[in-house]
Amino acid sequence: MTSIKPILTDSFGRGHNYLRISLTERCNLRCSYCMPQEGVTLTPKPQLMNAEEIFSLAALFVKNGVNKIRLTGGEPLVRKDFPDILSRLSQLPVQLSLTSNAFSIDRHIPLLKDSGVHSINISLDTLQAKRFQEITFRNYFDQVHQNILKLIREGFNVKINAVLMKGINDDEIIDFINFTKDYPISFRFIEFMPFDGNKWKRDKTVTFEEIMKEVHKNFSTDNIIRLDDAPNDTAKNFKINGFEGSFAIISTVTNPFCDTCNRLRLTANGQLKNCLFSDKESDLLSALRNKEDLEPIIKKAVIGKYAIRSGMDSNESFEDLQNHKKNRSMITIGG
Ligand code: GTP
Ligand code: 5AD
Ligand code: SF4
Repeated sequence: MTSIKPILTDSFGRGHNYLRISLTERCNLRCSYCMPQEGVTLTPKPQLMNAEEIFSLAALFVKNGVNKIRLTGGEPLVRKDFPDILSRLSQLPVQLSLTSNAFSIDRHIPLLKDSGVHSINISLDTLQAKRFQEITFRNYFDQVHQNILKLIREGFNVKINAVLMKGINDDEIIDFINFTKDYPISFRFIEFMPFDGNKWKRDKTVTFEEIMKEVHKNFSTDNIIRLDDAPNDTAKNFKINGFEGSFAIISTVTNPFCDTCNRLRLTANGQLKNCLFSDKESDLLSALRNKEDLEPIIKKAVIGKYAIRSGMDSNESFEDLQNHKKNRSMITIGG
């Protein structure tokens, strides 16, 4: 395995071995916490990375020490050349994974297996069909639910991401945990985070503390087991004694985990972001097309990374929506 080269090490000594590549700004769902109500102006196709460019950029990061690549979107599976992109990336010595809404994932199961994808993270914010439609503006619950069960049966390591929002789905915390009783999945509760156009309010976020309070109301303390987290994990992991699966909390708002951050992001139009919340981007795609040396550009971006949430280290600064205006909407970042 290639060790992390100095160009992927930031000024706080954090080595970046995990690259998240967004393949598209499009999605077949319309979740309000991710997609602004008025939609987003889509980048014209010629300005998006093509399959070959994605491979070239990914290969450069792998050469410098990246050993984990996650494909995101939008919804990565809406990209018609997804099979081509995945097949190319599978030639690299990396752990490949995917974050998807699962709507059309059944069609890709053989390809995913052939490409060595073992772990798949699925976004699902409710276990109720009617509510699914209210959150996503699409009537796809049954298809998504069936596909999740199919992925589990096919032996994938499945994590489910639920963004919890007060008054919308926070009454399902225990239902979600009960879903892990008979399935070896991880159900992850994500604190609702602010991004441009997603109407975030602090009081809509269900916090780590509130989630744990609900868990303790329903399960005895002896049965709530704190699991070891993987290195660089975004989540704090737990399990209910006797349940096959586990649950976890991703608490960017109330307990950021930036000290172990190992992630860089490449947007669908080839911009490198050194943090989920960064409003500064480095244009790797233009540089690639102009045959410039990319390594100094990457190095500069990595060294410029802030310690915490792109400089928003206090609650006050993070909760000030003005500070998120220059960042992208979530749909165009890819989570
Ligand atoms: P694993 O590799 O399975 O741990 O996945 P992951 O958590 O890195 O990726 P996933 O796409 O499933 O993201 C789950 C949630 O974690 C989403 O809400 C992401 O926005 C959030 N997340 C992922 N990476 C980061 C990150 O670098 N910083 C922060 N603050 N949140 C992140
Ligand atoms: N806050 C927290 N998580 C979000 N995601 C999308 N938008 C938000 C938000 N505003 C999550 C989705 C997806 C992951 C990549 O990012 O649930 O699973
Ligand atoms: Fe890394 Fe930024 Fe996420 Fe913190 S907020 S974990 S620095 S990407």
